[in-house]
Amino acid sequence: MTTFEVADLDLTDAYKLMTGLIVPRPIGWIGSYGPDGVANLAPYSFFQAVATNPPVVLFSTGMADGAVKDSLANCRASGVFTANLVDHELSVAMNQTSAEVEPTVDEFGLAGLTAKRFGSVDAPGVAEAKAVLECRVVNEVVLGVEPLRHAVTFGEVVAFHVADEVLDGTRIDAAELDALGRLSTPPSSMPSAGWQAPAMPQPAIGSPWSGRGSASPQPISTEVPSRR
Ligand SMILES: Cc1cc2nc3c(=O)[nH]c(=O)nc-3n(C[C@H](O)[C@H](O)[C@H](O)COP(=O)(O)O)c2cc1C
Repeated sequence: MTTFEVADLDLTDAYKLMTGLIVPRPIGWIGSYGPDGVANLAPYSFFQAVATNPPVVLFSTGMADGAVKDSLANCRASGVFTANLVDHELSVAMNQTSAEVEPTVDEFGLAGLTAKRFGSVDAPGVAEAKAVLECRVVNEVVLGVEPLRHAVTFGEVVAFHVADEVLDGTRIDAAELDALGRLSTPPSSMPSAGWQAPAMPQPAIGSPWSGRGSASPQPISTEVPSRR
């Protein structure tokens, strides 16, 4: 094994290790309006679900030499955004919206997408996406030191919009959703079709992961696989 002490790494190597090791990462396609009402859209793979009561997602914006990307500037000004999910068919459009363009450019139009107001927050969602989360900014945390800092924007989800073919009640069909994740850079990658997860022990009822609020915990497997 090779050990990398972070204090000895340059910016590129730290980035390569982080983005190569923490995989796959979901992609949040962040929609927002600029101050002049221009619709903005950009992919962020430093994107994650971090709470469910209420639901909260985050995305993290790199700020090289203090430069603030449009998504962050818009979220700071408007306090709202959408997090859209990218599927296989939208991958080319997603890449097009990662272009560094002036804030006056409508990136929905650039990628041939439809900016749609879904009605709960004043931020544009991707009409073509299979799922759109409307979010209200609840916090921002800035991490790191110059020349590369990151601003982590936390958004409380106020509404989920999900295509009917993806849904069974509130259960999501992962194959229909066909969400893209990112491996190392490039390229973006898809989960393999037909891959089945091995059987997992069920979380105790009432645990934060169970999604069920009962007070009586059920036993879970305590078997620890032996290591050789
Ligand atoms: C798949 C993918 C994931 C990306 N993830 C991030 C990210 O997590 N953080 C970031 O700062 N930039 C990320 N980028 C780059 C931004 O999308 C790019 O800088 C974009 O121009 C920002 O647009 P904006 O200024 O409209 O926000 C990613 C690009 C791609 C293609």
